Amino acid sequence: MAAPPLLLLAFLTFLPFSFSQSKLSPDYYSKTCPQFQETMGHVVSEKQSTSPNTAAAVLRLFFHDCAVEGCDGSILISSTSFNKAERDAEPNLLLPGDAFDVVVRAKTALELQCPGIVSCSDILATAVRDLVSMVGGPKYSVPLGRKDGLESNAARVEGNLPSPTMPLSKIISLYASKGFSVQEMVALAGARTIGFSQCKEFSNRLFNFSKSSDSDPAYSHKYAEALKKLCANYTQDPSMSAYNDVMTPEKFDNMYYQNLQKGLGLLSVDQDLAVDERTKPFVDLYASNSTAFFQDFALAMEKLSVYKVKTDREGEVRRRCDHFNNVNL
Ligand code: HEM
Ligand SMILES: *[C@@H]1O[C@H](CO)[C@@H](O)[C@H](O)[C@H]1NC(C)=O
Ligand SMILES: *[C@@H]1O[C@H](CO)[C@@H](O)[C@H](O)[C@H]1NC(C)=O
Ligand SMILES: *[C@@H]1O[C@H](CO)[C@@H](O)[C@H](O)[C@H]1NC(C)=O
Repeated sequence: MAAPPLLLLAFLTFLPFSFSQSKLSPDYYSKTCPQFQETMGHVVSEKQSTSPNTAAAVLRLFFHDCAVEGCDGSILISSTSFNKAERDAEPNLLLPGDAFDVVVRAKTALELQCPGIVSCSDILATAVRDLVSMVGGPKYSVPLGRKDGLESNAARVEGNLPSPTMPLSKIISLYASKGFSVQEMVALAGARTIGFSQCKEFSNRLFNFSKSSDSDPAYSHKYAEALKKLCANYTQDPSMSAYNDVMTPEKFDNMYYQNLQKGLGLLSVDQDLAVDERTKPFVDLYASNSTAFFQDFALAMEKLSVYKVKTDREGEVRRRCDHFNNVNL
């Protein structure tokens, strides 16, 4: 009778890395931290109601975490004199403090209820799911049991994150290298139906765009004029930002795609998605059918949230989300 479990154990130990996600489960904490979901819900809704951009901020933070070393909370680690961490790499410098703050708040509450049990990476993945549905987006399931990563290295960031002026072919191959299709890439970009972008991220389209045109002629004329005014001072005041979705900036809906069809896409990459023959069919689909967008966004987020997760001894449950456990504070 003792043999089968032992065999099973041996088998699990040698399961290849890619099977990690099958070890996750929606009720991972149901015995060890039964209040997990409820506490997450409280913390997240309180934060969102006092800081309405939290949903967008956390959604972007999550993408930046998952794209580098998988969804393992590596982006939450603070740099030390020995280690420049992911969050201090150039593409992550704009990530808003509110996004980190909601994770810290949830971790603090959960450490009081069930010390040492809930990983920071599970907190982040769950916060995103709760926030997306709170601002009107689709609900999807997030299996739990992620362990927090043991590495966070700023040098690993470059090449793993898309930039707004990257050619679309490069963005497509970046996603492909992580196992995401063009359609999934377009669906995930719909996250920019909420939140802001700083002027420097699209100033190339506003000022001195080409010999014949100061601003990108693909912009609707009125939109370009308004953005120029908004961003007139951006070099002096780098915090100047525009809504990603100028029509319904705080609501998670399919307006992002409708905007792209009308010259109201903010970033270069937004405009590219609307015209490139590889991506335009999906932009048109999601612009006309919000059910299709919600379904595909939910599926793509489920897939993103288990991307390269670490389980068991591949990681740890951090005591503090911003430090590895083996660092003396
Ligand atoms: C196609 C590749 C992508 C590029 C080039 C890109 C680029 C950007 C840039 C430059 C910003 C402005 C950041 C700032 O100024 O603070 C931004 C904002 C944002 N992005 Fe993306 N992004 C991409 C994909 C994604 C994905 C996959 C998600 C999530 C699933 C996402 C979610 C967001 C959100 C929610 C914001 C608003 C953040 C805020 O208001 O704080 N993006 N993105
Ligand atoms: C615009 O670009 C041209 C050519 O690159 C350059 O000579 C000029 O100084 C630029 N003007 C501004 C306002 O940046
Ligand atoms: C731009 O900056 C100047 C000088 O700092 C200031 O007088 C002006 O009001 C600012 N304009 C906007 C739109 O913020
Ligand atoms: C919209 O998409 C959904 C989900 O894919 C599909 O079932 C439905 O038939 C579509 N509606 C229209 C009008 O095409």
